[in-house]
Amino acid sequence: MTQLDTRSVHAGRDDLTALGVHVPPIDLSTTYPLPGVAAGGTSYDELTQGNGPDGGSLVYQRLWNPTVARFEDALAELELTDGAVAFGSGMAALTACLLATVAAGRPHVVAVRPLYGGSDHLLSTGLLGTTVSWAKATEVATAIRPETGLVIVETPANPTVQLVDIAAVARQASDVPVLVDNTFATPVLQQPARHGASLVLHSATKYLGGHGDVMGGVVAAGVEWIARLRQIRAVTGGLLHPLAAYELHRGLQTLPVRVRAQQATAMKVADWLSAQPAVEAVYYPGLSDPQELIGRQQAGPGAVLAFTVAGGHDAAARVAGGLKLVTHAVSLGGVDTLIQHPAALTHRLVAPEAKPVAGLLRLSLGLEDPEDLTADLAQALATL
Ligand SMILES: Cc1ncc(COP(=O)(O)O)c(C=O)c1O
Repeated sequence: MTQLDTRSVHAGRDDLTALGVHVPPIDLSTTYPLPGVAAGGTSYDELTQGNGPDGGSLVYQRLWNPTVARFEDALAELELTDGAVAFGSGMAALTACLLATVAAGRPHVVAVRPLYGGSDHLLSTGLLGTTVSWAKATEVATAIRPETGLVIVETPANPTVQLVDIAAVARQASDVPVLVDNTFATPVLQQPARHGASLVLHSATKYLGGHGDVMGGVVAAGVEWIARLRQIRAVTGGLLHPLAAYELHRGLQTLPVRVRAQQATAMKVADWLSAQPAVEAVYYPGLSDPQELIGRQQAGPGAVLAFTVAGGHDAAARVAGGLKLVTHAVSLGGVDTLIQHPAALTHRLVAPEAKPVAGLLRLSLGLEDPEDLTADLAQALATL
């Protein structure tokens, strides 16, 4: 197998030369000609059961789309899984995983906090028929019950970028599938399937797209999960649009370069923030990695960090509002640096006992020159 950087550029493009094109064609068809009623019906059956088209008609875009399938194949090559299934957002991807868990008759989920606030909220409300037990990463085994269908972890976790030992969780989960949200690390830094994860989820909206202009979600997994998730997508319709799939597939080509450059900036900014008197604490695995997971599980600390300022909510709000180059906005993983206040925004719906502290800000580093970023942070911190 070729190296990850090479796969990022070429995955999902093997047939382009034979097609006589240099970039993937975009198929926007919502419906497809049927060779006959019987053959069309057979294809319909296959696709709604979550199987591939196998040379038959694609029938209808909700059942199959070649442009989306290219992106899925490429992502699976990076995550080292059998396949992947793409959705209209990260939350649609998580929804499909939870629906599959409920449908399998094991609706109890064990989840390790922190998680992205939207994921935490979806589990806490039980909106999809799941129940949840929150557990520490070291106490997953004791939280598992006979009706547990899924273990969920996020590493690095949103917003404090804590790392979870995936292999240790997988050992405790035993035959219960483990879902790892790999949004922050991306397959460039970490391939959770190598450490025992059954499902690897991304908000593709973040690093995979990388430019803040496309929403998407994707789950990389083994063949059985892939069929189940495709079936759920076909029936419930949480589709990724083919134009979005094209953009995400293109995004993969520069993913390793972007992630490593953004990570180098994050290292510099984390060091700089650590030396600022107005900053109480900096959360970044490049500064502190007590479980020594960098190198063993994750190739580098990533490009998101969090920090607290003295003075709580009001001080944090002043810093976020005082930045000129850095954009005050939710989301992350794009080429421009974003800052946001998790307790007020991304984690607003999280229960009080698990809500991020009021003085915490999350910073997603982009591709700007680090000195321009620290200069902007310096002038905003000077207002405190
Ligand atoms: C770690 C993580 N997972 C999932 C999601 C949800 O993804 P989306 O916003 O694409 O639905 C987010 C969004 O911020 C996230 O940060």
